Amino acid sequence: MKYELCPSMLACNFNKIGEQLRVLSENGINWLHIDVMDGNFVPSISFGQPLIASIRKESNLFFDTHLMIVEPIRYIEDFVKAGSDSITIHYEACKDVKKCIEKIKSHNVKVGISVKPNTKIEEIYELLPSIDMVLIMTVEPGFGGQSYIDSCTEKIYKLRKEIDKRKLNTIIQVDGGINQLTINKVIEAGASHIVAGSWIFKENLKDSVLNGISEMNKCIDLLKEK
Ligand code: DX5
Ligand code: ZN
Repeated sequence: MKYELCPSMLACNFNKIGEQLRVLSENGINWLHIDVMDGNFVPSISFGQPLIASIRKESNLFFDTHLMIVEPIRYIEDFVKAGSDSITIHYEACKDVKKCIEKIKSHNVKVGISVKPNTKIEEIYELLPSIDMVLIMTVEPGFGGQSYIDSCTEKIYKLRKEIDKRKLNTIIQVDGGINQLTINKVIEAGASHIVAGSWIFKENLKDSVLNGISEMNKCIDLLKEK
């Protein structure tokens, strides 16, 4: 299984964004998690297409766009044009989630479905064959810096079991409250793509990236020993 640490740009220093993205690329990061919030699906507002289009010109990172917006189908084309490599939509935010999945796929970008902490993971099982990734939220979406919700771990185990049973390659990504104290839980449960905002974007970004990757690798090694 391929693992990726996916820093969440929400926590970056926007005064130095270009420089920070370079530090990520130069120190083993491949994925950039981009949180788009509309002030409606979630209480907060973050940023949108112009910012993504602007950093696209300077960065070769895989742009993993997490849309926390109502009826994302309205904006798929915009976020593809801005430079997203994958688009993750919320299961709870769509009237017709299958139609939105098809729309994303028609643009040849990867498609993810995200579920909030209180959404039962079984609800999205029927979508598994048609998507590339499931994003399990481990905090209520809307803000960085919250604490990991322990009851979400069980959902990761369940989903891993279902994906393996069906012999699918669907990626399990987790997002919210991940740090050196919680990363072992999500990796042991079967997640491979680990979003982390406040844990990674610290004063000395290079050190925290290297530390994050090494913590992740320790957990992967522990898992192999089992
Ligand atoms: C929350 C966002 C997250 C957030 C994670 O709604 O989806 O990606 O940036 O931040 P941390 O890692 O600080 O919990
Ligand atoms: Zn996110």
